Amino acid sequence: MAVKKTKFVVGNWKMSPVSPLEAKKIAISIKKCASVLSKVTTVFAPPSIYLPLISRLCAKGEVKLSSQNVSIFKDGAHTGEVNAEMLKNSGVSFCIVGHSERRALGETDAQVSEKVNLLLENGIRPVICVGEGEHDHQGVYLEFLQNEIKNSLKGVTKKNASDIIIAYEPIWAVGAKEPMQNSDIHETTLFIKKVLTDIFGQEMAFSIPILYGGSVNMRNAKDIVMMGQVDGLLVGRESLNPIGFNSMLKEINSI
Ligand code: 13P
Repeated sequence: MAVKKTKFVVGNWKMSPVSPLEAKKIAISIKKCASVLSKVTTVFAPPSIYLPLISRLCAKGEVKLSSQNVSIFKDGAHTGEVNAEMLKNSGVSFCIVGHSERRALGETDAQVSEKVNLLLENGIRPVICVGEGEHDHQGVYLEFLQNEIKNSLKGVTKKNASDIIIAYEPIWAVGAKEPMQNSDIHETTLFIKKVLTDIFGQEMAFSIPILYGGSVNMRNAKDIVMMGQVDGLLVGRESLNPIGFNSMLKEINSI
């Protein structure tokens, strides 16, 4: 009987690597490791130009495919845009939405929610990024997070909420030297569950996976998942290093 995969590890390649050949090398090495793990769902989020290439390499589904973005438009004449239906028809089953690097370019909560709803209509699981720019000890960041989550999930019904994934990425920990402290990750995750409970009710809220992202590497990954009590990781830099990423996958699989 197949063991239920319980943890997600999503590699956000951002705007790397610079050639299809390098992308292929990274994907092949990680696919080999990921295909024998029973408790981790491994997801690649390469730059969109490599999606068809990586989709062919992972045709058996050993590694799932994610886009890093999707158009806000359902269809029509929109130069340079890629819509949710195209992603679905190209073998993509996850899509990162509302990453802080896109929010920094002007993406709003309202746009994030429109994208989330279009993805859900097309059977693609949105990995919705949320996170505060500054972490204070008076709890101001909690109010920010609550608003960001509620606004980014506008229009999502209880019925399709089971397909969403939340990625908590405190912006100050993205591309930094150190991740957030494990106890703080745990505390914030509980808060996110409370906000999700307000929206969808407790049973649904507790079934929605919550990932952590921000300076995760092969040395800290297992502790973050265990002590931070998250359902997986959204990984930037270390996802382009097959040795580090494979080691991380094995560690998470051993939990
Ligand atoms: P780093 O792991 O490089 O800090 O990036 C995190 C991230 O933004 C993943 O989406």
